[in-house]
Amino acid sequence: MVNITKSKMTRFNYNQWVSYFSQNDLHRLKINFSNEQEISEKNKNLIFPSIRAFQKGEGSDGRYLMRSVDDYINKNGQKEYHDAMQWFVKEENCHSAYLKEYMDFYKIKPAKHSALDFIFRKLRQFSGLKSEITTLVTAEMIALTYYDALSKCIYSPALKSICKQMLHDELAHIIFQSHTLNRLNLNKFDNLIRIILMEVTSVFVWCAFHKVFMAGGYDFGSFMKENMGYLRQSIFLAESNK
Ligand SMILES: [Fe+2]
Ligand SMILES: [Fe+2]
Repeated sequence: MVNITKSKMTRFNYNQWVSYFSQNDLHRLKINFSNEQEISEKNKNLIFPSIRAFQKGEGSDGRYLMRSVDDYINKNGQKEYHDAMQWFVKEENCHSAYLKEYMDFYKIKPAKHSALDFIFRKLRQFSGLKSEITTLVTAEMIALTYYDALSKCIYSPALKSICKQMLHDELAHIIFQSHTLNRLNLNKFDNLIRIILMEVTSVFVWCAFHKVFMAGGYDFGSFMKENMGYLRQSIFLAESNK
């Protein structure tokens, strides 16, 4: 598990996040498929159900999210948060595009529906920015464990490079969202909700995609430990300097 609490990004304000995202955008991943070898049917069945679900989950126009952001800004100021979040939505759409490009290479059709994505979207829209960010960051912490497992479970240099980029970007996203949660002044009850949400979501994701996690070296215990460890760090960041 990466220690995110020591990163210099934990001290970023929203203007610094805008420059981080705009710089990161200049170095987008170009996926190299020249070293790919044919993937067996067994391995396709192993990886693509979860890749299709995550591809759907990563992509969104962010309309509802940006409405919550603008509501928040109207009440609390911090106009630069709007730009930072727009860059964030753009980066998430790049993630979706990487996975789509990989699926296209292996002629895998995108998912029209994903139960996981549906649940996350409903939870996010529950009550404004706080639930949006709480749910988003929960998904991003589980994504860290997922992309780590996915990068190890089959031989595919292109997939490995995508996962490496995802891990790099998602770590920053967790720090970014934790910064916002810090500003939203979460209380003990909110933290309890975060813990329950992480536990329930992790169990759900494990049930759906445990084969990928197991092929990537996780068992249920280490999977939960990893997710809860990231949550502990995010709660720490959301509570620091109060
Ligand atoms: Fe993402
Ligand atoms: Fe993310």
